[in-house]
Amino acid sequence: MDCVKSAIILLVAAWTLSGQDGKLTADGAKKLKNPIAFTKKSISQGRDTFLRNCVGCHGDNGKALIDVVADATDLTDPKAFRDGTSDGEIFRSIRDGAGASMPSFKSQIEKDEDLWHLVNFIHSLWPPEAQPPLQDKAAQPPLQKENK
Ligand code: HEC
Repeated sequence: MDCVKSAIILLVAAWTLSGQDGKLTADGAKKLKNPIAFTKKSISQGRDTFLRNCVGCHGDNGKALIDVVADATDLTDPKAFRDGTSDGEIFRSIRDGAGASMPSFKSQIEKDEDLWHLVNFIHSLWPPEAQPPLQDKAAQPPLQKENK
């Protein structure tokens, strides 16, 4: 009986703590919501972080065409993603690492905010029909008119 009890306690602990190593579970990641709007500003902040941390393996266009790490995911093609394409799942791949050779960036990129900007940048690499709608269109129509 005690055995069953401790098994249940362990299960609940694993479920609530999202794993003892502090990594997000697949289900936990799916539930995450991106708090940063998909705007040009966010995309460009994500691009800066990408250029500093990710081009070595994914290439500066995200296509991973370089020979050195041929198995890095082509980030421009959502169909090529192996670990999910929701915002939370991409967040998890970057924060905790993916597959056998994508490292975790938890310690290099400390602010969650910067990880979400990266998620937005990755969306911007996708074909237009797969991208979420840009949020700044609605926010600044008068400004754009004046500029023309
Ligand atoms: C050391 C090389 C390396 C670096 C640096 C690197 N990646 Fe990766 N990345 C990989 C590899 C290899 C994979 C494929 C992992 C797998 O699924 O086997 C991958 C997968 C991914 C995935 C998951 C795609 C999927 O299959 O679901 C995302 C998202 C991603 N990388 C984003 C980034 C971002 C953003 C950065 C910079 C912060 C970055 N990577 C830096 C090697 C790297």
